Amino acid sequence: MAEFRLPANSRILAGNTFSASADAERVKNVKVYRWSPDDGQNPRVDTYQLDLDDCGPMVLDALLKIKNEIDPTLTFRRSCREGICGSCAMNINGGNHLACTTAIEDIEGDVAIYPLPHMPVVKDLVPDLTNFYKQYASVEPWLKNDSPIGETEERLQSVEDREKLDGLYECILCASCSTSCPSYWWNGDNGYLGPAALLQAYRFIADSRDEATDERLAKLEDPFKLYRCHTIMNCTNTCPKGLNPAKAIVTIKSMIAERK
Ligand code: SF4
Ligand code: FES
Repeated sequence: MAEFRLPANSRILAGNTFSASADAERVKNVKVYRWSPDDGQNPRVDTYQLDLDDCGPMVLDALLKIKNEIDPTLTFRRSCREGICGSCAMNINGGNHLACTTAIEDIEGDVAIYPLPHMPVVKDLVPDLTNFYKQYASVEPWLKNDSPIGETEERLQSVEDREKLDGLYECILCASCSTSCPSYWWNGDNGYLGPAALLQAYRFIADSRDEATDERLAKLEDPFKLYRCHTIMNCTNTCPKGLNPAKAIVTIKSMIAERK
């Protein structure tokens, strides 16, 4: 029989509220998704009332304050706190962002924080990226070049060829793009590689030092791996590094068409 409701254990319940101290003047409600899949409880959204005069400026600062001073059970990933490692990507007020580069004051009203969409949740704001990294590995993200070279020589590249990698090498694999893509939501488990892995594939296709262009294009010519992209553009609109995965995907498609 068709089921029209979400499974009971996936419904999000109202959670706990942690009030700000009575003398706080600039109070912001930070609503955070909480779920431990193993404890048999439903997910909930806890509300933390933070005094902005006693908190750092970024959403990551708010999460650290909550974890350090209010609720040590809150779980999230972070490392560099400067937009380099990609580990703090999460859904903030409906969009995928890096918590460490998103200013609390730029958010009107309450701050709502959820894990990256449509991914299995390990705990709270930590998504399971196993499939995402498997897809990344599948594009063989390393230079392939069998031409002999002396031990003390380097594989050189002209300034013009090096510039072709701009807008590609900066990817920090935060997964914001792939997890904002409806096609990836529907087909990420069915073979569609998603914008992040495809941008990485193109980063090596575009590299003048790589000799495996034909092999790489042949592997990508697949109805699921590549052609589930319908140019919805969420990836490009979302990328916190200002990259353009949609353009990389279109370029791969036209290279495959030209190859024929
Ligand atoms: S392309 Fe942008 S959004 Fe996608 S993984 Fe790389 S840095 Fe993150
Ligand atoms: S903590 Fe490294 S990108 Fe945010």
